[in-house]
Amino acid sequence: MKSLTSVEIRKVFLDFFQSKNHLVHPPSSLIPSNDPTLLLTNSGMAQFKSYFSGESEPPSKKITTAQKCFRTTDIDEVGDSTHLTLFEMLGNFSFGDYFKIDACKWALELMTNHLGFEKDKIFISVHVDDKESVEIWKNIGIPEEKIYLFGDEDNWWGPAGDEGPCGPCSELHYYIGDKDPSSFKDLEKEDGWGPNTHEDFVELYNLVFTQFYHHIDGTRTELPNKNIDTGMGLERVATILQGKNSVYETDLFSSLISKIEKKSGFKWGSSSKNNSNLEERSADKAISVLAEHSRSATFLIADGVIPE
Ligand code: GLY
Repeated sequence: MKSLTSVEIRKVFLDFFQSKNHLVHPPSSLIPSNDPTLLLTNSGMAQFKSYFSGESEPPSKKITTAQKCFRTTDIDEVGDSTHLTLFEMLGNFSFGDYFKIDACKWALELMTNHLGFEKDKIFISVHVDDKESVEIWKNIGIPEEKIYLFGDEDNWWGPAGDEGPCGPCSELHYYIGDKDPSSFKDLEKEDGWGPNTHEDFVELYNLVFTQFYHHIDGTRTELPNKNIDTGMGLERVATILQGKNSVYETDLFSSLISKIEKKSGFKWGSSSKNNSNLEERSADKAISVLAEHSRSATFLIADGVIPE
């Protein structure tokens, strides 16, 4: 696989969707505007809620962005290899323009032909009631055994905040274990092997089929249009394309980690079980958390969230 810097990955994504007639739109602040139901921008679609609901007109029916996002809900996972409070979400959006077929087709084309992921290692999750998406994935070359069905907990997205657009989703997961794809056939039958359930899989790209509006009273109504809202995590993609095991080893974190190493005197990456020095082993997690929180706090402060 070709190694790409995070700057190159962002450019490949935006250029790809620009070539499919999407408007490259600037990201919004981490502080949502005009949305009292959302504390911090948590997704690429947050700034576009009124375009999905039909309350206002988008500047284009097809938009692409690289959006800084903050998810307070992931704070307890920070320090593992994939979860961050602040991350960058690459997204493509359709406001009543294309729907499932193009969203799935372009996602696969981008992942395999432009970012260089191996098609054999891509697995798909689909909402259990969404038979249409299963057929679409099969028609574009994903074998049925690589398509896994899940309920609302895994394959329903939104709303962002207490109300707003939402819908069933389909995700592209990538196999990061060390088995050869030719051995997948046997593993697929094993219980607990596959996306969402096994640690050798990482979720990279979520395609939301935004068809509903979730109201503050808990009811849902159909939106006037069928829309697309997607999100691909830049840090996770960088981890894989740069051949690393953790977001902290990517170019997005390397300068922060080396600064903390210099200041603390501890070296990141000493957590191997063979290291008998317990202090060094636990320093890894502390360095990761410090790097993550200082990065996310910097972005928050830059957008006007001032600590008191
Ligand atoms: N809005 C899509 C996502 O956050 O995955």
